[in-house]
Amino acid sequence: MVLLGTVRRWDGVAVGQAVSIDRVHEPVMVGQVLGNLSPEPGQTLLDLTVGAGGHAAQLLERLGAGGVLVGIDRDPAILQVARRVLAPFGASAILRTARSDALRAVLRDLKITAVNGVLMDLGVSSLQIDEAARGFSWRGEGPLDMRMDATQGRTARELLLTMSEQELVHILFRYGEEPFARRIAKELKALSRGAMPRTTTELAQLVERIVPSRLKGRSSVHPATRVFQALRIAVNDELGTLERTLPEIEQALVPGGRVVVISFHSLEDRIVKDYFRSGRQAGVFSEVARKPLCADEAEVQRNPRSRSAKLRFAVKALAA
Ligand SMILES: C[S@@+](CC[C@H](N)C(=O)[O-])C[C@H]1O[C@@H](n2cnc3c(N)ncnc32)[C@H](O)[C@@H]1O
Repeated sequence: MVLLGTVRRWDGVAVGQAVSIDRVHEPVMVGQVLGNLSPEPGQTLLDLTVGAGGHAAQLLERLGAGGVLVGIDRDPAILQVARRVLAPFGASAILRTARSDALRAVLRDLKITAVNGVLMDLGVSSLQIDEAARGFSWRGEGPLDMRMDATQGRTARELLLTMSEQELVHILFRYGEEPFARRIAKELKALSRGAMPRTTTELAQLVERIVPSRLKGRSSVHPATRVFQALRIAVNDELGTLERTLPEIEQALVPGGRVVVISFHSLEDRIVKDYFRSGRQAGVFSEVARKPLCADEAEVQRNPRSRSAKLRFAVKALAA
């Protein structure tokens, strides 16, 4: 553990002390992930959001030398971290750059017909957020990018330039629950191409100017936090990808196989809940979480990111 010192709010007010594990992403709800995936020696598992390999390492410990974990991440840069972290597991850890909805192609390529368990730990890793050059956060100055896979798709700036004002309002409202969505979208779309923010700082300053000053001091959250979250979700088509991934997971599981999904946004959790529920009604899943599981207080204290984590699981029926 490394003590990072005083944590300051966006406006400079000290709010506590931060403790971090040497800038490594700390996996959330590890006990509940292991408990609900129930990995057994020799099994084959699929981690669709392998990130820095925190959950994957715990799973590989339980799979033993005869087991295999296929780890996928859409971010080729973060997969390099997983490669280092999971190197001690040798050939048991197979890593591929891919988006989760391409899991079938990855498994086909590896000649794996079915897996015993699947994990999804959605969103971005703190390693991605902390890297200012990726443009995910207002905290550091970087290009307005936000792509998890920086080799594909439109950056956040390109999205701002190409979307209509109406589309932008929709995204800010729906993905960010941003109360000033209309005003922010109007100001942004009134800008000429050259004046459109190029950096995270320029966007954060524009949002700060729009949010009324009487509201600014009230929250410990930076006024641009919701806008950044909304744009990141849109840039990476996070909800659409999740919707396309869930049926693929169902197909890939052996009868009796288990899936665990951790989400950090109510819209993601809704998608997972509805999919599992309707699968249960259709007899595809024999068991699903009735309510989402959350991190306990001790974990929230240790790792604030776990505060908004919601974990759901489902078990594929034996005769699905
Ligand atoms: C919250 S982190 C996962 C952390 C990981 N469980 C660990 O213990 O280190 C999410 C990771 O999943 C990746 N990711 C998010 N959505 C994805 C998707 N649909 N397909 C593939 N990778 C995805 C991100 O690039 C990021 O590295």
